Amino acid sequence: MTRYALITGASSGIGLAMAEALARRGRNLILVARQRDLLETIALELTQRFGVEVLFRACDLGEPLRLSGFLLELEDGAHQIDLLVNAAGIGTCGPFLAQEWSAEQDLIDLNILALTRLCHTVGNLMAIQGGGQILNIASVAAFQPGPWMSTYYASKAYVLHFSEGLREEVKKAGVKVSVLCPGPTRTAFFRTAQLQVNVDNLMSPEEVALYTVRALAKNRAVITPGFSNRLWTLSPRLVSRWLARQISGYINKKYCPR
Ligand SMILES: NC(=O)c1ccc[n+]([C@@H]2O[C@H](COP(=O)([O-])OP(=O)(O)OC[C@H]3O[C@@H](n4cnc5c(N)ncnc54)[C@H](OP(=O)(O)O)[C@@H]3O)[C@@H](O)[C@H]2O)c1
Repeated sequence: MTRYALITGASSGIGLAMAEALARRGRNLILVARQRDLLETIALELTQRFGVEVLFRACDLGEPLRLSGFLLELEDGAHQIDLLVNAAGIGTCGPFLAQEWSAEQDLIDLNILALTRLCHTVGNLMAIQGGGQILNIASVAAFQPGPWMSTYYASKAYVLHFSEGLREEVKKAGVKVSVLCPGPTRTAFFRTAQLQVNVDNLMSPEEVALYTVRALAKNRAVITPGFSNRLWTLSPRLVSRWLARQISGYINKKYCPR
């Protein structure tokens, strides 16, 4: 049976770069995001360039009913998935109390709920088939609280801790779990989150993806591309929690228009 890497958030940024890096290594892919036309174009291009099979599925993973439908399709077992990359994610910025609740709900539904349910469904399928690999995308934001982006930082702390916990639980079933913690990366993320960041000098998603596929081959637990990003993840341990909150709050407020 043909095996596939299932990548969410594959229409853009880090998910797209992961799709390209994996296709380059001969992996067949199933791409998931909301923008059907974009997915179709990407699937065609990757097939032509790398000669791999690329399927795609347009799905709003933040809609619990659509997510359930998609998970049922996966459970039907028509496609064997040996790698799950949970890259779909969004951010919000600004004072929590002033946010439209729907924006915070969308973030929680996508960053936490969809990611966790995909791990549950695909993790079970992998355990039955004797193994597989899961990569969840957190962030360097996972390592400290982030005033003015409180829900985003907390969602990424969830992804980091959930992934590390799951890793220990499922290793005997042959399922490997890693978590990627990128620093600021040149993607549409900042525009979507309405953060006013000049992305020109940031790490490219292709650099992040190359580092990540190499680390995945070594089954690294926590993958943080870039020396300064690794330093940043250590810094909350070197200063008091009060100071860590002040520093991340200062940075977030600077880039947040509200
Ligand atoms: N860029 C950074 O600096 C950075 C740093 C650390 C961590 N991260 C994390 O990296 C991950 C990827 O983000 P990115 O930077 O690559 O941003 P991006 O370019 O905006 O990509 C986000 C992806 O998620 C998909 N998506 C958004 N909402 C969705 C939904 N409701 N259902 C299904 N797919 C959805 C988008 O596709 P559609 O619009 O087609 O649905 C897109 O493919 C996120 O989890 C983010 O938190 C990013």
